[in-house]
Amino acid sequence: MPVQERRLILANIDRDGYTPDIDCYLRNGGYADLKKALTLDGPAIVAEVKTSQLRGRGGAGFSCGMKWGFIDPKKNTKPVYLICNADESEPGTFKDRQIIYKDPHQLLEGMIIACYANNVHLAYIYIRGEFVLGAQILEKAIAEAKTEGFLGKAINGTGYDLEIYVHRGAGAYICGEETGLIESLEGKRAYPRIKPPYFPAVLGLYMCPTIVNNVETLCNIKHIVRMGGAEFAKIGKPNNTGTRLLCVSGDVEKPGYFEFEVGALTMGELINDVCGGIKGGRKLKAIIPGGSSAKVLRAGERYKIKSKKPDGTMEEKEIGLLDITLDFDTLAAAGSMAGSGGIIVMDETRDMVECLANINTFYAHESCGQCTPCREGSLWMKKVTDRLVAGEGLPGDPKLLKTVADNIAGRTICAFGEACAWPVQSFVAKFPEEFAKHAEGKVATAARKGTVAQEPSKAMEAA
Ligand SMILES: Cc1cc2nc3c(=O)[nH]c(=O)nc-3n(C[C@H](O)[C@H](O)[C@H](O)COP(=O)(O)O)c2cc1C
Ligand code: SF4
Repeated sequence: MPVQERRLILANIDRDGYTPDIDCYLRNGGYADLKKALTLDGPAIVAEVKTSQLRGRGGAGFSCGMKWGFIDPKKNTKPVYLICNADESEPGTFKDRQIIYKDPHQLLEGMIIACYANNVHLAYIYIRGEFVLGAQILEKAIAEAKTEGFLGKAINGTGYDLEIYVHRGAGAYICGEETGLIESLEGKRAYPRIKPPYFPAVLGLYMCPTIVNNVETLCNIKHIVRMGGAEFAKIGKPNNTGTRLLCVSGDVEKPGYFEFEVGALTMGELINDVCGGIKGGRKLKAIIPGGSSAKVLRAGERYKIKSKKPDGTMEEKEIGLLDITLDFDTLAAAGSMAGSGGIIVMDETRDMVECLANINTFYAHESCGQCTPCREGSLWMKKVTDRLVAGEGLPGDPKLLKTVADNIAGRTICAFGEACAWPVQSFVAKFPEEFAKHAEGKVATAARKGTVAQEPSKAMEAA
């Protein structure tokens, strides 16, 4: 029997008659978890979140409880801020917007609890600029929550005050990187800050301690308060707890967003049972499992996965791509990452050089330009893949791509460096024959033939 979805965050989303207004939310038990939270101490809620083992859903999978633990409100002389990261600009990712459009009060309830737990009195939702409707829905939801006494002064009759403001983003991918986001929120260009010293928990918004969490992460908080951290930790598997929103796009019959217990299903079950298989009955070629910056995985490849057995000893198994379970640790062991939950599926008809050229175009456009390796390197990589798909590649191009990528990753201010280098490193390493075909045989992708004049920059040839 196919694995069933476990809808925690999406429990009401897309249900007949469910609307984003507060009356509907209250009719469905909304804000009960906030009322419960307000009877607890903030540190007790932080302890429950630590027990839950919740990991961030924005990309890096960092422990939410640990992040909150860096902030000790008692020791702080400065205000503490909380920012909900609703930028959602990682290609292949379309989950946070569903929550915002269809169940905004779930996010607000999670945020209010998170703010109360961390003694935050002013919070922001930084929403991607293009989500005009989403910003309007959130503004309305905030006004409704205020009218009902869940926001503003003396929330629900307690002595706790909180204001939440919606801030529309500046329309760039880098605005989703937490320190770039903070700069943008402060009214500046979204140039990421160097860490250390600018860890948001220490020197964040207005140089005050700041928690930045993803939309989905914050929604989980209300469920943790309702069921308790230990009960929540039983969902999924150790260190990979809770549910995960998965966004499937590309060459499958039924793309869409789904919610499963973390690690409850394999890649094969997701593609074949949930998404109806590869489009047109064709064969699978590759999968990017966590948004475009995650390393690509190739069908037919074998992965050695180490895992802990119930008795605490380690075991190693060799598995294929379709046997990989969708959790943080297994995807990391397979050499990629769960990232933002954006799963991009490519079938046998895809030209992998063309796919990489597409990704490179995005990153070359989105580099903020502060660091030389990222600014120059992302553009070089785009130029090289552009000429490869135009049938004007040079024999050394695959090697050149690798060299440039290797010299970006680990040498930049923010993780955008890795985000643009990892696709290049993995595509070139995993599909050498396709890159060689374009480079040696000067094969053009049909749609791109003759689109780029060869640009044999002396520096690029020499590298
Ligand atoms: C280039 C770049 C873009 C990012 N974009 C997003 C984004 O759109 N949404 C998001 O939640 N996190 C994004 N992140 C991750 C954030 O920096 C941060 O880690 C995250 O918001 C923390 O939330 P979490 O702990 O709840 O996952 C991005 C990171 C990088 C390096
Ligand atoms: S790595 Fe790229 S995006 Fe990040 S700060 Fe440097 S230039 Fe900007």
